Amino acid sequence: MRDFVKINEVGPRDGLQSQGQTLSLEQRLHMIKALVQAGIRAIEMGSFVSPRAVPQMAGTGELFARLPMLSEVDYSALIPNLKGYQLAREAGVGSVAVVLSATETMNQRNINMSLTEATAVSAELMQRAKADGLQARAYVAVAFECPFEGVTSPEVVQQLTHQMLDAGADTVIIADTIGAANPLGVQRVLQPLAQWCETDQISCHFHDTRGMALANVLAALQCGVREFDSSIGGLGGCPFSPGATGNLATEDLVLMLDAMGYRTGIEPLALVQAVQQVQQLTGGQLGGHSFRWLERQWHKQQEARNV
Ligand code: COA
Ligand code: ZN
Repeated sequence: MRDFVKINEVGPRDGLQSQGQTLSLEQRLHMIKALVQAGIRAIEMGSFVSPRAVPQMAGTGELFARLPMLSEVDYSALIPNLKGYQLAREAGVGSVAVVLSATETMNQRNINMSLTEATAVSAELMQRAKADGLQARAYVAVAFECPFEGVTSPEVVQQLTHQMLDAGADTVIIADTIGAANPLGVQRVLQPLAQWCETDQISCHFHDTRGMALANVLAALQCGVREFDSSIGGLGGCPFSPGATGNLATEDLVLMLDAMGYRTGIEPLALVQAVQQVQQLTGGQLGGHSFRWLERQWHKQQEARNV
């Protein structure tokens, strides 16, 4: 049996939150439907954050009510605080992800809390989520480098991961928010973690800012990690992290895993139309390193079908 790698699509949240324009709920719905159509089975569909801080994510509760509810698709949402948790619960979301950053300044800039406060709030939300029967996920953001404080200490990341797992988190997502990680740095953070927790409790979130996202995925795979975030077409960034550009593109991740013999449940060519549709919705040029090649293979496939 080939190893399964879970892919969590974050385009509708991490991707859209950093776009200059705000998509309508109809357009966000269209995007998520295209992702489901492409075979993606885990989707971070939005966030319950202040609409003043992130107008692109306003109306996430209403959007959730309009999503195609399929037993095989897991939708999650990002929450920064108790209010976000309550809004997610009211909307009926079954999986929530808190966003704790590994440095003092990043927590202040992102969610207006100190590191100590953000850790306590995130732990409390993890406990609540488990008590309420939800899936509980915790991001540890700026896990490799912070745009304000420089290189992050691996020990701090390990300590925060520990605290989130102790509080009941099902998964901790080690996030390279600004795309500054390299494969050795990834191993330095993940190897000690793999010693004392189950690797299926860890997920990784890479940005491709410096072209090293896939190399970082390989390093994480070698440490036993079998879950990754990615964003369709590489859409993404973080409005509170200067210099953060696109996420690891879902099509690049799926193609590499497929070529290495891992199962993802997603057919690489099925992603081509999703990239094209999201490109139309957002109006910008999209596509990971492999997209032009995938597009050509997809055209050949279509021509062969039409003969
Ligand atoms: N969802 C919606 N509104 C929220 C909210 C939430 N999760 N949390 C707070 N608010 C509202 C409050 O009700 C209040 O509204 P009012 O002024 O109309 O009364 C207002 O926001 C301020 O509340 P306060 O608790 O003082 O928040 P803050 O100003 O300290 O901001 C956050 C804190 C977390 C709400 C804000 O920084 C935020 O939304 N950050 C999101 C960051 C993000 O999404 N980053 C990208 C992902 S990594
Ligand atoms: Zn990100």
